[in-house]
Amino acid sequence: MSTYHLDKILNTVINADCIEAMKQIADNTIDVIFADPPYNLQLGEALRRPDNTDVKGVYEEWDSFESIAEYDKYTKAWMQEARRILKENGTIWVIGSYHNIFRVGYIMQDLGFWILNDIIWNKTNPMPNFKGTRFTNAHETLIWATKNPKAKYTFKYEAMKALNDDVQMRSTWEIPLCTGNERLKNKTTGEKLHPTQKPEALLYRVIMASTNVGDIILDPFFGTGTTGAVAKKLGRQFIGIEKDTAYIAGAKERIAAIKVSSDETALEYSCKRKAPKVPFGAVIERGLIAPGDILYDEKKLHKAIVRSDGTLKMKNEVGSIHQLGAKAQNSVTCNGWVYWHFINEQKKLVCIDTLRELIRAEMGYVGE
Ligand SMILES: C[S@@+](CC[C@H](N)C(=O)[O-])C[C@H]1O[C@@H](n2cnc3c(N)ncnc32)[C@H](O)[C@@H]1O
Repeated sequence: MSTYHLDKILNTVINADCIEAMKQIADNTIDVIFADPPYNLQLGEALRRPDNTDVKGVYEEWDSFESIAEYDKYTKAWMQEARRILKENGTIWVIGSYHNIFRVGYIMQDLGFWILNDIIWNKTNPMPNFKGTRFTNAHETLIWATKNPKAKYTFKYEAMKALNDDVQMRSTWEIPLCTGNERLKNKTTGEKLHPTQKPEALLYRVIMASTNVGDIILDPFFGTGTTGAVAKKLGRQFIGIEKDTAYIAGAKERIAAIKVSSDETALEYSCKRKAPKVPFGAVIERGLIAPGDILYDEKKLHKAIVRSDGTLKMKNEVGSIHQLGAKAQNSVTCNGWVYWHFINEQKKLVCIDTLRELIRAEMGYVGE
């Protein structure tokens, strides 16, 4: 079996079955996979609105499977290849609806993927439930996972927070369906080119959260190329795989039309500088606390004497600020920096963390 040269397929769309195409990609080469596979909607008879007009569902041949067992077999086959080509520290996103996402998640766990989040994409403009027979189905689920629990994956926490007006980004995302000019049209009929084109805003968040500039994102079910379009806008590289040539033509035209700013500032993002590590010994070396000084907890229930080597002694126990803090509280862990206090010149009880902050400031670190 021939193997693709990675540079030759970067920023291109491969016209093939994704399982066959992925088989030609070397192991551990892809940073992130975004997969929007067939949902197996099993729609049955055509759906009509109360005014008797047709509801455009997904009736395409690519979305239909003979049975749920067939769907499972297919899911397992593409996912095994996806897992093999994903880097050890890479992540995979799979989007689906209630029709398939539970089976997808089950298969992912069976294959050894480690789930990081399930994201609810809450559609702000969902299609109504025309028959009034059940709740309006207003969301889809994205499963975000690593290859194994120990993976050191990319998560742009600070960038997500900055995108969200400085509030931690949650796992529920309010994003409208893809409509208006963003929606690709069939040039002859004027109808939607693709029944399930995803909104760029959704991919924007996925790509910003889990990749770095220059990373390779593979989408095995490329459709209209939403992943490629956003990857290009954000300075990432993509590999698309799609078996329908009409979708590929639409995707290529869409991506080619995107103009990207050449100013590097555009792609910079918030990234918290890690606070430098300061050992408790540094506080003693600088004379901020002297050997023999006494440290107390906030309520003065426990006290310990500071030794010259930076350890503490509390009754007969010796250990680090963290170990003795944990002992004092009968707990397994403790952040000694916030547990222990000293008495300052004004006879006030002050947390030793203020001394660590002094040292960090000397080192030029400015906290947030
Ligand atoms: C749910 S749609 C993806 C839509 C896409 N995310 C977008 O925004 O346009 C799934 C796509 O996968 C393609 N597809 C289905 N099975 C495939 C396979 N085995 N190999 C490659 N493409 C496949 C279909 O033609 C369809 O375009």
